Amino acid sequence: MSAPNLNADIGVIGGTGLYELLGETEEVKISTPYGAPSDLITVAELNSRQVAFLPRHGRDHRFPPHRIPYRANIWALRSLGVRQILAPCAVGGLRPDFIAGTFVVPDQLIDRTSGREQTFCDTGAVHTTFAEPYCPDGRRAALAAAERVNRVDGGTMVVIDGPRFSTRAESRWHAAAGGTIINMTGQPEAALARELALCYTSIALVTDLDAGVEGSQGVTHDEVLRAFAKNVTVLRRVLFDAVAALPVERTCPCSRAFAVPVDLDAG
Ligand code: ADE
Repeated sequence: MSAPNLNADIGVIGGTGLYELLGETEEVKISTPYGAPSDLITVAELNSRQVAFLPRHGRDHRFPPHRIPYRANIWALRSLGVRQILAPCAVGGLRPDFIAGTFVVPDQLIDRTSGREQTFCDTGAVHTTFAEPYCPDGRRAALAAAERVNRVDGGTMVVIDGPRFSTRAESRWHAAAGGTIINMTGQPEAALARELALCYTSIALVTDLDAGVEGSQGVTHDEVLRAFAKNVTVLRRVLFDAVAALPVERTCPCSRAFAVPVDLDAG
């Protein structure tokens, strides 16, 4: 790891347009035993907390969802001292009332990805408790931050591999299985964070109605980008308020999760 003198206790894994207005920042290049993270990490003080920002897809969006170096990203943040992660993302709605611009703070997840590296435990019998995939305190902070916007407390995020969107039949199937929102990056981020005993909170911005929902024309990439751009200022405000609302002392179960023994100097 380079620049070990930089420190942050909150990590934000997000995308384009979220990191403006940060004031004074420092950038750090980190290497990990799992390769390089998606990009340089920007560290800034925000609401009296040290926050590390990592663009999930890389600044130039070079990593599609199935190629994101998820393990390196989580490891790199942890090696900077991060213990709480806020993870804003764009999602499709699997219910007709989840219109574009709705904020969802999910409490459950259905993993429909395959072939992604989704553990740090490649040897030994290690089984992480994951019944509640998101941090309860982080969720509370996100919900408080989103109090004045159209927000939904709870939801089940279906994560697919992509990069294509779902067919109408797949989309109906995801909804019938209990999914309420869908995206391509929510896993393995959440599980990897849990393995390192990090708090992980998803803040999902609905950008479209998924293909199986009545009234959907079928999702397009342009539609997602347009809806994200339209709502990014609000998302940024919610995110920054959530940073301020996160507890300084962690007392949640994630902080006591079985933590994979890590050698953070390796890499
Ligand atoms: N990200 C944003 N909208 C999505 C959708 N409908 N399906 C999968 N990922 C998405």
